[in-house]
Amino acid sequence: MEKTFSPHLTLAKTYWKDHIQPNDIAIDATCGNGHDTLFLSEICTVIGLDIQEKALQNTQKLLQKHQKNATLHLLSHALIDTLSFSYAPRLIVYNLGYLPHADKTLTTKTDSTIESVRKSLQILAKDGAISITCYPGHSEGEKEQSALEIFISELPSDRWKVTHHKWCDRPKAPSLIWISSII
Ligand SMILES: C[S@@+](CC[C@H](N)C(=O)[O-])C[C@H]1O[C@@H](n2cnc3c(N)ncnc32)[C@H](O)[C@@H]1O
Repeated sequence: MEKTFSPHLTLAKTYWKDHIQPNDIAIDATCGNGHDTLFLSEICTVIGLDIQEKALQNTQKLLQKHQKNATLHLLSHALIDTLSFSYAPRLIVYNLGYLPHADKTLTTKTDSTIESVRKSLQILAKDGAISITCYPGHSEGEKEQSALEIFISELPSDRWKVTHHKWCDRPKAPSLIWISSII
């Protein structure tokens, strides 16, 4: 793996590129402005979720500009298990937090994030993976990262491989959790 010490999103994308193939389905569980949805749509079939109409509009606009497609749903990722697929997703991506330059109260929340990740583990393909970028620099983000750290530390190690990349000397800096299935 290249660029192990690069910023969290570059590292996340390196993981995604290594993991997904053109025939896969990936879910972007937090579309936001659509940058991650676009990146994934250049590799495979993508389903995108967000609770904000504005986020889905921004994502659609970005995809159109680059002549790419994704199926977008105005849906909380806490309800990720209500989606139907022709086959199971191999990658589910969370980029936690709030839309830049928008309402900061519409941030991802600890309880619904944990509920969603728990459900994602169940709907993933048997060789699937989950990527979560955390933002402990704001208070809900800090709570979310702490709750996720407990949650992932309790996953059965004969079923899942879990890593958490974070800066030892920068506790408020973004971090990356990567959970992959052991087949
Ligand atoms: C940091 S932004 C995502 C950035 C995005 N991936 C990009 O590439 O631009 C986080 C997004 O999560 C969305 N969000 C918050 N709670 C959510 C939930 N329960 N389900 C789905 N999306 C949610 C917010 O509306 C916001 O657009």
